[in-house]
Amino acid sequence: MTSAVRAPAAPLDDRDGVIWLDGDFVPWRAAQLHVLSHGLHYGGSVFEGERAYGGRVFKLREHSDRLVASARRMGFELPWTAAELDAATCETVARAGLTDGYVRPVAWRGSDTLRLVAPDNTVHVAVAAWPWPRIFTDGPRGITLRTSRWRRPAPDTAPVTAKTAAGYALGSLAGQEAEEAGCDDALLLDHRGRLAEATGANLFLVLDGALHTPPPECVLDGITRRTVIALAHDLGLTVVERHLAPAELDRATEVFLTGTAYEVQPVTAVDDRRYPLGEVGAALAEAYAEAVRGAGAGGEARPAGAAVAGDPG
Ligand SMILES: Cc1ncc(COP(=O)(O)O)c(C=O)c1O
Repeated sequence: MTSAVRAPAAPLDDRDGVIWLDGDFVPWRAAQLHVLSHGLHYGGSVFEGERAYGGRVFKLREHSDRLVASARRMGFELPWTAAELDAATCETVARAGLTDGYVRPVAWRGSDTLRLVAPDNTVHVAVAAWPWPRIFTDGPRGITLRTSRWRRPAPDTAPVTAKTAAGYALGSLAGQEAEEAGCDDALLLDHRGRLAEATGANLFLVLDGALHTPPPECVLDGITRRTVIALAHDLGLTVVERHLAPAELDRATEVFLTGTAYEVQPVTAVDDRRYPLGEVGAALAEAYAEAVRGAGAGGEARPAGAAVAGDPG
C-alpha cells in the first residue's frame, strides 16, 4: 500500500487565507454553513475537484459547466453562471498565491427549511484552493486496488453521472474498506457486475496494446478521461469504450486510473492480480503532464497582476 496523503497538520477548517463564499471573500475560518442545511442532511450538494498547474486551473470551464449541470441534475440552479464561477475560481487561486494545488468548488441547498422537497431554499456556492501535490504519497510506483462489495448504482437508481455529495457516500465507504484491507483504493463494479471505476477516478485497461475503458453510463464522465482519450488518439493508440467484464482484468497487460486528483495513476495490483508499470500508461502520464502545463491546456489564464507566490503552507 502506498498510502493516500493524509490530512496535513492543520485541519481544513483552521487555516489562514480566504474562501470565496456567495460572491465575497471571507476569512478561511469563517466560511461556515448552518447545521440545519439541506445539503448536510439530504445530500442536496454538488461539487467539483480541480487542479491548478502554474497558477492556471486545467479545464476550468469544463469543471464549471459540470458543476452547473450537476446542480441542475439535483433539481437546483446555481445563482452563478459558469463564466462567473470561472472568474471566482481564478481570483481564489490568485488570492491563495497558489501555483500548483487543488481547487474545490461546492454548492449546496441552505437552511431555509428542512423539508426534503425544498425548491425555494437558498443555494450557496463556495470555492476554496490549497496546495495538495499528490493524492498517493508513492503514486508513481503504482497503487493497489481491491474490488469493492459495493456497486455503482444504475442510472435509473441515482444521478450517477452528476458529481453529487450523496454519490460520494458510496465511494467513501468503499475506499475505507479497501484501506482497512491494506489496499490503496477500491475498484467498484457497476450494478450489472461490470467494471466501473475507482472511488475518484476512471478505469483503463490495456488489452493487446489498445486502451479499453467503460462508457460513461454508470461512471462519472471524467474530464481527465476525455483528455487522456484525446491524447491516446494523438499517440496513435486505439481506444475502445465498451462494457468490460471483471475477468478481462486477467489478460490486461496494464491498468491505470485517470482523474483530476489522480492524474494518470498506474495500478500495480487488483486483488490478487499483478501488473507492471507499463509503457502505455507511462507515455500517457507524460503526455498528460505536458498537456496540463502546456499552452493548449484549456486552463484559464490568471487574472492580470495576480500573485504567483509559493505555497502558502
Ligand atoms: C467517481 C469518480 N470517477 C471519475 C472521476 C474523474 O473525473 P475527473 O477526471 O473529471 O476528475 C472522479 C473525480 O472527480 C470521480 O470522483
